[in-house]
Parts: sequence; structure tokens; C-alpha cells
Amino acid sequence: MKLQIINGPNLNLLGTREESIYGDQNFDKYFNNLKSKYSNIDLKYFQSNIEGEIIDKIQEVGFDFDGIIINAAAYTHTSVGIGDAIRSISSPTVEVHISNTYSREEFRHKSFLSAHVRGVVLGFGLKSYNLAIESFLD
Ligand code: DQA
Repeated sequence: MKLQIINGPNLNLLGTREESIYGDQNFDKYFNNLKSKYSNIDLKYFQSNIEGEIIDKIQEVGFDFDGIIINAAAYTHTSVGIGDAIRSISSPTVEVHISNTYSREEFRHKSFLSAHVRGVVLGFGLKSYNLAIESFLD
């Protein structure tokens, strides 16, 4: 099984960024743990701070991979383009957030992705990614 994780803007700063919200773990390290835990899955990771690069990646893998797990970060709340990309591909997509966006500022309550994904996992810290992977397993 091939799964693509896509992280959006500022998630390259996990571990140092707003630790009280996002924790103190660096995503590269966490991704290595995921790779060892799910060694039977071909797990790929891509991060970009640029909206168009995220759309390009969705288009690149979205007709081939068995699934996409996306945390579009701030673009979740602004990007019609990422929402449109997700609805244009065939790979099932799961939206992930580290924090519980509904317990935060109101502008984080709106997602331009949620209507086009298979499901949403949020609020479990980095474990949200584990839970999203599990959703692809039997
Ligand atoms: C986030 C929540 C977003 O509102 C925020 O802009 C992020 C991270 C999360 O994982 O909790 O950058 O997607």
C-alpha cells in the first residue's frame, strides 16, 4: 500500500513552533517512527510552505497512491485550490490536524477540504497521523 503524507505551511517548524499547541516533537523524527511502525506500508512524506506545490503533489500522487493524508495547515482555512485538487483526484484523502481546530479561533472552524475528503482526524496531537493511517488498514 502506498500512502502520501502532505504537510502544509509552517509544519516544518514542528518541535519549536508554538509548543503548547503543537508539542515538542519534530515531524521528521516522528515520520521515521511512523515508517518503522508501519513498515509494510510504502509511506512518503512531503512538506511545502507553497500552496501551488501542495496542489502539484496532490495531482502527482492522486491517481496512483492508495491514499493521501493531508494537513494543509493554514491553507485549510483559505484554499479553494487545494479543496478543488482533492475533489479532482481518485485517491481517497484523509484530512488531519494536530490541534482541535474547533476549540480555537473561529477562522479555524472553516475547512475548504473537509467536504471533499473521506474523513477528518483532529485534536490528537501527532497521533492524529497514526489514526489517519489506521483508517486505511482493515
Ligand atoms: C493545524 C491547524 C491550523 O489551523 C493551523 O494553521 C496549522 C496547523 C493543525 O495541525 O492543528 O498550521 O492544521
